[in-house]
Amino acid sequence: MEIIIQPTDEAASSIAARLIARLLRDKPSAVLGLATGNTPRMLYRELARMSLDWSKVRTFDLDEYVGLPPEHPASYRQFMWENLFRYVNIAPANIHVPDGMTKDIPGFCARYEGAIRAAGNIDLQVLGIGRDGHIGFNEPTSSLASRTRIKTLTAQTRRDNAKFFDSEANVPHHVITMGIGTIMESRQIMLLAFGEQKAHAVAHAVEGPVTAMCPASVLQLHPVVKIFLDEAAASRLTKVDYYRWVYDNKPDWQKF
Ligand code: F6R
Repeated sequence: MEIIIQPTDEAASSIAARLIARLLRDKPSAVLGLATGNTPRMLYRELARMSLDWSKVRTFDLDEYVGLPPEHPASYRQFMWENLFRYVNIAPANIHVPDGMTKDIPGFCARYEGAIRAAGNIDLQVLGIGRDGHIGFNEPTSSLASRTRIKTLTAQTRRDNAKFFDSEANVPHHVITMGIGTIMESRQIMLLAFGEQKAHAVAHAVEGPVTAMCPASVLQLHPVVKIFLDEAAASRLTKVDYYRWVYDNKPDWQKF
């Protein structure tokens, strides 16, 4: 795991954006796994500002609420359109977001997994993290080998996400999410976390034991993970000085 601590969320997002830009230049048909929520907004704004060619890029979103039509303002398909896709030349056929309105959830999930495989698997997966350590919507106690499926949100996650809805009562209880096993098959992973409210989950994920009680801790088992933090999100880590030294003293060929 590589821990990159920056003074602000903006600085961290800008480095993350540069890495994605480099991937899209090296591999124009790259397959990106994408997260929604507050955290990646700045990353997407930065990517939209760069003049990158998205015409061959394929994307797979992590998750979607069950029961929300794509045009609902809080749906993740809508989020992706508003925050990224409307600004870049991505082909609509290359965009994949779980269908929250499907009548056959298990069948849809199996097809979503098949589509990821058919695309050659995800080159780079972008993740946020929940306050309880969830990645995608794999809540604590999710199987670390899980695949795309329906999950039930915890009360805390529904409260945290109420900001995107008129009221907490309107936050769906169910979501379709890529599984932890699905996420772990990505060739590389970047997780972004900003703000003091994420510090506890980040400390567990990075320095705690690997446990389904903190799904993000499974990333310790992935060979290519970068964790982008602002100072507040890094505030509960014990080896901060080491992480900073490593980042500041990279050999030239490793710098980004
Ligand atoms: C969203 C997702 C979630 C969020 C997490 C943090 O697609 O997969 O895991 O990344 O809930 O949400 P924010 O960024 O709103 O704090």
